[in-house]
Amino acid sequence: MLKAGPSPDRRRGLRLWRSSIRHTMNIQSAVNLEDLRRLARRKLPRIAFDFIDGGSDDELCLHRNREAFERHRLVPRYLRDVTRRDQSVALFGRTYASPIGISPTGLAGLFRPDADLMLAEAAREANVPFLLSSAANAALEDAIRVAPEHVWFQMYCTSDERINADLVERARKAKIGVLVVSVDVPVNSNRERNRRNGFSRPFRMTTGVALEALGHPAWVLRYLRTGGIPMMRNWKPYAREGATAGEVADMYGTLTPAPMVTWAHLKRIRSAWSGPLVVKGLLHPDDAREAAQLGADGIVISNHGGRQLDAAPAPLEMLPEIRAAVGKDVQLILDSGVRRGSDVVIARCLGAQSAIFGRPTLFGVAAGGRAGASRALQIMRNEIDMVMAQIGCASLSDLGPGYLMSQQPGPAIGSSTDETTLPRKSQPATV
Ligand code: FNR
Repeated sequence: MLKAGPSPDRRRGLRLWRSSIRHTMNIQSAVNLEDLRRLARRKLPRIAFDFIDGGSDDELCLHRNREAFERHRLVPRYLRDVTRRDQSVALFGRTYASPIGISPTGLAGLFRPDADLMLAEAAREANVPFLLSSAANAALEDAIRVAPEHVWFQMYCTSDERINADLVERARKAKIGVLVVSVDVPVNSNRERNRRNGFSRPFRMTTGVALEALGHPAWVLRYLRTGGIPMMRNWKPYAREGATAGEVADMYGTLTPAPMVTWAHLKRIRSAWSGPLVVKGLLHPDDAREAAQLGADGIVISNHGGRQLDAAPAPLEMLPEIRAAVGKDVQLILDSGVRRGSDVVIARCLGAQSAIFGRPTLFGVAAGGRAGASRALQIMRNEIDMVMAQIGCASLSDLGPGYLMSQQPGPAIGSSTDETTLPRKSQPATV
């Protein structure tokens, strides 16, 4: 007599288990962040991949972010005991395991359903901060439940003061630890990849997009199974009862960007929010000084990953001047183009407390869910550890300009034709 096979439920379970092992193997084979980008490129339709990967105008700023790191050299010190290495960092009264974090990225649910919650879980597991975007698909109240000590909330000021005040109040009620206000999007920028691909805001599934997406069936199935474009849950309370995801996105588009936002808005947020306040997107030392005077506890020095002003400097180029402008009491977090552990170490040497990145974890989560996001964080942590050992630094707090070769090296260190004195041939940031 034939034995009955496993029940449909069990078969489904086995299938999921096998597919999760496959995922994990793919993800574990990524040796660096660029590998995660390649994995994501295979899994995402072009319109979605380009939305993450692209920058504005000629994407010069995107490339500049990498070039700025590539111009620096770490000069190793030897014969020091580096058996034990400590990369923990204190930020706003809490100790994190590494000087890294996940930058806020809106619409993550488009790349994988529940991506925001997976990013929050990965951050909790790695004990690093996750900056949840207000343009995310998860509500801040849900994300903080997943990672109560690791979710920071990032908001844009809208044209509606009541909504701004309500977002701050919701963050307070949800016991968000750190509030981040992004200020670098006074208007939408010119993202030509999106325009060529027909990526309209809000996202619409046109026939052309659907046809290209058919080459990525797993993404299409997930997209259809979860009901098409994902809801921007932070904005749902401000839309009419029963509004669809598209209607909520349309409403969000009428409220942001808000070109009338000024320091007065930030001042109001400062008085309404008693916890640590971070301003994200500053590049000018005078703006950094003004933010500090207004009572900001931290600044994310950022050019939005080269997605806004194409002529903007790389944040790393502005870091020393900003550190000089704000003194030592304001915590500086460097963002944009961070792809290697050595980048984080260089940023620390130039005065930042930590460095955060957006695309790598997004590629990780798109390629392999939570395991992919975790892999990105793990790669960075391992690289930082290795670089610390290689330069003879056992503790992050010892890092400073002393580990850097000056940008205009003289003949004492290398001959003028030595490769080390020339900027390395620059690689495109993410291409
Ligand atoms: C972003 N970024 C961003 N920033 C922000 O403050 N709020 C947001 O909602 C978003 N959304 C967003 C979506 C996507 C797809 C990307 C790639 C980026 C900018 C982000 O926080 C960060 O500044 C950059 O991603 C940093 O550059 P790298 O690390 O991606 O090079």
